[in-house]
Amino acid sequence: MSTPLTSASSTRPIRDGATGSPLIELQDIHRTFVTGGGVEVHALRGVSLRIHTGEFVAIMGQSGSGKSTLMNILGCLDQPTSGSYLFDGRDIRSFDADGLAWLRREAFGFVFQSYNLLNSTTAQENVEIPAIYSGMPVAARKQRAAALLQSLGLGQRMAHRPSQLSGGAATACVDCTRIDERRPDNPR
Ligand SMILES: Nc1ncnc2c1ncn2[C@@H]1O[C@H](COP(=O)(O)OP(=O)(O)OP(=O)(O)O)[C@@H](O)[C@H]1O
Ligand SMILES: [Mg+2]
Repeated sequence: MSTPLTSASSTRPIRDGATGSPLIELQDIHRTFVTGGGVEVHALRGVSLRIHTGEFVAIMGQSGSGKSTLMNILGCLDQPTSGSYLFDGRDIRSFDADGLAWLRREAFGFVFQSYNLLNSTTAQENVEIPAIYSGMPVAARKQRAAALLQSLGLGQRMAHRPSQLSGGAATACVDCTRIDERRPDNPR
């Protein structure tokens, strides 16, 4: 992370790792799901790890071993049942809903296992969503979404809902949202 970032709920910038302390630090993370029938599923049992700025880390394991569960916690989409998660030295539990939304927007890039397109909105509106969160004006984000979709040959599909798109077109639509989410020149 080369540019210091500032939280909407805190003006303290995210460090760039210069202090040598980990950017991400998990200590004894547990995540237990309770199913409808009251059965407990222990998806994570005491995961501890440290990730420093600039490190590339792969999390590997067999199907059902808890990779997605761990990634959801790392990306602040889910909370652990117990254990501590420090991001840039700050306990995740100290962030309110707005702070967590800011963190998800500014600090993480997500590539989900499924499409995760919103079926109640059109292809163009789906592509606009990251720009809405980054505060781009309406006209500019509509123009940009249209240009991205047209560049991938989806100009005739912009008003379609995701369920009306082929698998390849839906994938291209997701690609457009990701380009807009994390493009390095995004002037936020
Ligand atoms: N919401 C949930 N409710 C109940 N059990 C869950 C829930 N989410 C995950 N699990 C269970 O937790 C365990 C870990 O699931 P997870 O999706 O994290 O595995 P994974 O390593 O990502 O698997 P895959 O490689 O198949 O994607 C599995 O036993 C799964 O059935
Ligand atoms: Mg998974």
